[in-house]
This record gives sequence, structure tokens and C-alpha cells, in this order.
Amino acid sequence: MMQIDIFESAEKMAYEAAGKIIDLVSHKPNAVLCLAGGETPRLTYQCLTGEAKKRNIDFSSVQWVSLDEWVGIPPSNAGSCYHFLQQHLFNPLAVHPSNIHFFDAMAANVSTECEKMNAKIKQWQRLDLILVGIGMNGHIGFNEPGVDATLPAHVIELDSITQQVGQKYFTENTHLQKGITLGISQFIQAGMAILIAAGASKAGIIKKAVEEPVSKWVPASHIQAHANAWVMLDAAAAGALKINEKR
Ligand code: PGA
Repeated sequence: MMQIDIFESAEKMAYEAAGKIIDLVSHKPNAVLCLAGGETPRLTYQCLTGEAKKRNIDFSSVQWVSLDEWVGIPPSNAGSCYHFLQQHLFNPLAVHPSNIHFFDAMAANVSTECEKMNAKIKQWQRLDLILVGIGMNGHIGFNEPGVDATLPAHVIELDSITQQVGQKYFTENTHLQKGITLGISQFIQAGMAILIAAGASKAGIIKKAVEEPVSKWVPASHIQAHANAWVMLDAAAAGALKINEKR
């Protein structure tokens, strides 16, 4: 079941999203988490690390799984997903490297990286929680419009919108052609899925994702089929929805 929660501000949304992650880890200290990079989750991670410290929540046994990465971009590049998570989660929470399971987007054979990740997830059975943002084209991770939703982790040609919008993460113009990503099937099977979006620029695509029929052309719309999903929006991102009740 998918539940939509609308908050008066992005700050409130971030606080509630962080709360869901903290609740899970308090009950399951060895939870397998997959948390997205990107601008939207930044505040959520700020709340998460702040609350974790304040409430003394033990994250030392949590397993951290990569959602996606730009193929050919090294982890030292500030625009990489790894770098973002290192800065906003792994460093503040002092995560031990052995608990970090990320795609090596510099590997000579990136398909092998997908196989390794699929095997790990099979071993854990599933992700306990996955938190994603939504792209302007409706992607989640790098599951681009038209993607086969039955795929597990895979390498994909990036959509032109992703190539353009993705420039915002980099200090200089960067060639972004391929991505490596978990698949929609792994998203659907996760114990809990959270999709967060903030700002008016996301209002149109959010409407398509949650109020229109599930379509491979709007990959985020698959969240409608999730057994335990939360769509958390600030008022602006919810601006085009029929249901528009704020908390
Ligand atoms: P954003 O990215 O949070 O930076 O808007 C979302 C996404 O592309 O998944």
C-alpha cells in the first residue's frame, strides 16, 4: 500500500523521513539501508545524523547499500553519489567501511558490479528500507523512462534529461552517459520504500507518479504497487495533486 503524506515544509518532511529510518534502526540495528544521493535527501540526512547523536542510536551494524552511481565517475569526485553519502552520512555516523556496499563505477567490468550487488541483496533476502528522490523525468535511482521493471541491478544509458539535470552536482561540465543502478524489482521488494520530493519543480512529475496509472515511462509510478510505501512531499511538490491535505 502507498501512503501519501504532505508536509507544510521541506524541513518537516525531512524530520519525519529521518524519524522513519531511526525507528527502523532502533528496532533492527543490523538493518540493510539503501539511501539515495541528491539534493532532496540532504536535509533528511542532516536530521538523521543529528537525531542519531542526540538519541544515541547505534548505527554500527547497519549495512549501507548503493542505490546508483555515474559510470566512470570516481568516488573522490564531489558529484559522485558515493562522495555525497560519505559527506552527509558515512562520515557523521562514523560508518565502518566494511558496512558500505557500493557499486564501483570505475570497475573495468561494471556488469560484474551488478552481479556482485544482486548476490549480496539475495543473501540479505531484501533491503529493509530504500529511500529515493524522483528525477524530473520520473526516474528513481537510474531507472530511466522505459526501463524494464523486472530487472535487478543493471547498467543503463542515461536519459538526456538525467544527463542535463545531473550537471548540477558537478563543479565543471561532465560527460554523463551511463549509470549503474539497483532495479525497480529490488525497490518493490524492499521492506519499506520512501519517496521524498520537495519544491514546485517536482509537482508535475509527482502527480504523474502517484495519480496516474503505473507506467514504465514514469518509473517512480511503480511505487503504487509497493506493499509498504510512503510518498513524503512538501506542500510545493504536492501542489498539483487532487488530494492536498497538509500535516
Ligand atoms: P534531486 O535528485 O534530489 O537532486 O532532485 C532526484 C533524483 O534525480 O533522483
